[in-house]
Amino acid sequence: MQLHISPSLRHVTVLPGKGVREFINVKIGSRRLSYRMLFYMLLFFTFLLRFLFVMTAVDSIEGETKCATIGCIGKRLGPRILGRKLEPNVPDVIYQVLQQPMTKDELKGRPEIPQTLEDFMADIKESRPDAKTFALKLRDMVTLLEQRTRTAKIQEYLYRHIASSSIPKQLHCLALKLANEHSSNAAARQQLPTAELVPALVDNSHFHFVLASDNVLAASVVATSLVRNSLRPHKVVLHIITDKKTYSPMQAWFSLHPLDPAIIEVKALHHFDWFAKGKVPVLEAMEKDQRARSKFRGGSSVIVKNNTEKPHIIASKLQALSPKYNSMMNHIRIHLPELFPSLNKVVFLDDDIVVQTDLTPLWDINMKGKVNGAVQTCQGNDKFVMSKRFKSYLNFSHPLIRKSFNPNQCAWAYGMNIFDLKAWRNSNISLTYYHWLEQNLKSDLSLWQLGTLPPGLIAFHGHVHIIDPFWHMLGLGYQENTTLTEAKSAGVIHFNGRAKPWLEIAFPHLRPLWAKYVNFSDKFIKGCHIRAS
Ligand SMILES: *[C@@H]1O[C@H](CO)[C@@H](O)[C@H](O)[C@H]1NC(C)=O
Ligand SMILES: *[C@@H]1O[C@H](CO)[C@@H](O)[C@H](O)[C@H]1NC(C)=O
Ligand SMILES: *[C@@H]1O[C@H](CO)[C@@H](O)[C@H](O)[C@H]1NC(C)=O
Ligand SMILES: *[C@@H]1O[C@H](CO)[C@@H](O)[C@H](O)[C@H]1NC(C)=O
Ligand SMILES: *[C@@H]1O[C@H](CO)[C@@H](O)[C@H](O)[C@H]1NC(C)=O
Repeated sequence: MQLHISPSLRHVTVLPGKGVREFINVKIGSRRLSYRMLFYMLLFFTFLLRFLFVMTAVDSIEGETKCATIGCIGKRLGPRILGRKLEPNVPDVIYQVLQQPMTKDELKGRPEIPQTLEDFMADIKESRPDAKTFALKLRDMVTLLEQRTRTAKIQEYLYRHIASSSIPKQLHCLALKLANEHSSNAAARQQLPTAELVPALVDNSHFHFVLASDNVLAASVVATSLVRNSLRPHKVVLHIITDKKTYSPMQAWFSLHPLDPAIIEVKALHHFDWFAKGKVPVLEAMEKDQRARSKFRGGSSVIVKNNTEKPHIIASKLQALSPKYNSMMNHIRIHLPELFPSLNKVVFLDDDIVVQTDLTPLWDINMKGKVNGAVQTCQGNDKFVMSKRFKSYLNFSHPLIRKSFNPNQCAWAYGMNIFDLKAWRNSNISLTYYHWLEQNLKSDLSLWQLGTLPPGLIAFHGHVHIIDPFWHMLGLGYQENTTLTEAKSAGVIHFNGRAKPWLEIAFPHLRPLWAKYVNFSDKFIKGCHIRAS
């Protein structure tokens, strides 16, 4: 017997034997059907097939006519021959047995339970059980299979998460090669920028961009795309902030691959005066946050143990514990006014974006006294990416959130923001940010769970100036529906989401927009087997 379940879980096909043409095809209309129901339906068919000599049966369950009991499903799924419905002859005792709940422990240490559908069918054929024994065996096997499917499903979700957050070996290789170059080649250790260009770093007649990243390849694409598309590259200053461990590879890369006449500064966080002076609230907040996360909801083992929770919810709860969402590179933007005390305006870029146009017109936007120029994310063609309101990020069941914000307030995006640092310095934005981080810790992470956008939405509340969507197209890492033409026409594209362009899971039709800024004949890129496709 062969069994085929479509990946969407919407079609099940059973081919009862070699050379036999009969088959059963179940179309499932409802997405809410549980695995248990699915397996039962399947086995009903095999059961019916054996006892009723059904030749071909096709039926479907629609979402609206929900069946609460297994008996109901059995009847709804009764096989049809040439459109005529047959009365399924399933003894009531089978329904009764299948309906009885079963705990996980009842299955422990019972090696006789069939492990596969094939074993089950062989067993039934051999022992020719009565209806009750059949039902008991069926129930045991289905429960076992369901548990396995569940575990596998959770793992699948987690692997997807790991695939998107772990560092591929090519990037690792690149960092190592560059660090090696840094120690062996003086040309890779140049002060960036050179001494005569240092005054430009604090000169407000230049266009200042800030990029925080620990990924050299990603940073090189942002920098190259920014400079290559600029109409006045000699006026562009890019400040790259990185962490201690990435500093030497980053410095080596930009020393050996200068983007003249643009000015590139590479600095690790610990090089900033403000950072060295002590009292850095972001570090303290991150430590506290990490401590709270490790104990969040009893920790990972308690989360996994909950048998009634859906696999994707479990996976997302586990993700909330991941340090990825608490990275320094993400939190640092809240300190822009302190990091760049002499600058008036900066554009902050994420490292998963590509610049496709001259960005200097951003400085001409009248911010009307606001601090943060950002694109809105609640309207647009793309229903998935462009349907984000405050309620998508914040927990409005919590009284503190409910009394302070409007759930339908449109959200905005990080990734490409113009910040008026002068206006920022006259506000309490950073204080507000830390105040709410503290509140969230105090209420056991129940105000929001993931990322730095939720506290950002709160802190910049009332300080946001909406800019044209042309300046920032989101969602290229989420789905393949974004067409190449659409993406090409945007000023900046953002690969937010899992499918980062430097990972294997990138969408092949969108990756070239990123890859065109990587020089694949470069010796470091080539040496680490980073390829165009
Ligand atoms: C398990 O998940 C269910 C469904 O969300 C929830 O109602 C229940 O409280 C959870 N149990 C535990 C022990 O967390
Ligand atoms: C910032 O907070 C201080 C103290 O809470 C308050 O006195 C001041 O008015 C606030 N400033 C602004 C611009 O909101
Ligand atoms: C949202 O807030 C309510 C009220 O404090 C809390 O019971 C609930 O667990 C929170 N939800 C999440 C997902 O944290
Ligand atoms: C992508 O496009 C297909 C076909 O046009 C459509 O069925 C599907 O719903 C779209 N997916 C998303 C996430 O928009
Ligand atoms: C790419 O790298 C090769 C080898 O280092 C170099 O000769 C070439 O000029 C580079 N191309 C660009 C566009 O930078």
